[in-house]
Amino acid sequence: MNTVIITGASRGIGHATAVRFLREGWRVITCARAEVPPECKMDRNWSAHFPVDLSDPNAIDAFARQVLEHLNGDPLHALVNNAGVSPKTSFKERLGVLNGAIDRWRSVFELNFFAPLRLARAFATPLSKSKGAVVNITSIAGHYVHPFAGSAYSTSKAALSGLTREMAVEFAQLGVRVNAVAPGEIKTEMVSSEYEALIPRIPLDRMGSTDDVASCVYRLCTEEFAYVTGTEVFVTGGQHLL
Ligand SMILES: NC(=O)c1ccc[n+]([C@@H]2O[C@H](COP(=O)([O-])OP(=O)(O)OC[C@H]3O[C@@H](n4cnc5c(N)ncnc54)[C@H](OP(=O)(O)O)[C@@H]3O)[C@@H](O)[C@H]2O)c1
Repeated sequence: MNTVIITGASRGIGHATAVRFLREGWRVITCARAEVPPECKMDRNWSAHFPVDLSDPNAIDAFARQVLEHLNGDPLHALVNNAGVSPKTSFKERLGVLNGAIDRWRSVFELNFFAPLRLARAFATPLSKSKGAVVNITSIAGHYVHPFAGSAYSTSKAALSGLTREMAVEFAQLGVRVNAVAPGEIKTEMVSSEYEALIPRIPLDRMGSTDDVASCVYRLCTEEFAYVTGTEVFVTGGQHLL
């Protein structure tokens, strides 16, 4: 049985991705600060969920140790770095160059950029055993100035896109593929109703669903994409073209 680790699976895109992998018969290991909904735990292939704050490097080390123990020497077929935050200041503004505490930029980068880096390194050996795949969830905001995303978020995602490129070449030596999926406007708790105003800028004329992202992530982790590494797939309904 194939095994995947998905971060940030308590809701949103991460949760939909976990459900997709389960449907395809994979063993799923997840984490988030919160528990997953109880009905998910009834699926015996959802073999473990670890509550962890991935913006804390020490907590990541402890999480990686727990997962490696859980794997017990088994190969890992995929790692999906999905957990992320788009922070607002106490005035509900997006964290930018001119507003918000600079220290908050560090915690955004810890979660959105350093956690994927730390986890990829921690799981490189079990991933190499299966010639597995890493998928980093980036964002359209890492490529274009977005009306509602702050600079802290956008630059952390731009850095993750760059890391995907670099990791693809380093991990190729291990036989591990590394790709990114860049969502546009996806209906989750991360986006508010103001995002509906962006629909006229989306060629496919609708917001995306969590399943739209999950299916792309899943396919990138399969053998059908065995010769694809270092790419970033825009799941944006064409929004990145305008
Ligand atoms: N929704 C969009 O339109 C959109 C667009 C572009 C990119 N993205 C990216 O897609 C990914 C998922 O977004 P989403 O919309 O599904 O977000 P979401 O609904 O806010 O879910 C985020 C997930 O990450 C977990 N998480 C947050 N902070 C964490 C932490 N410190 N440690 C561990 N887990 C943490 C959350 O669980 P807990 O709160 O329980 O920890 C939750 O499971 C993110 O990387 C986001 O940047 C989303």
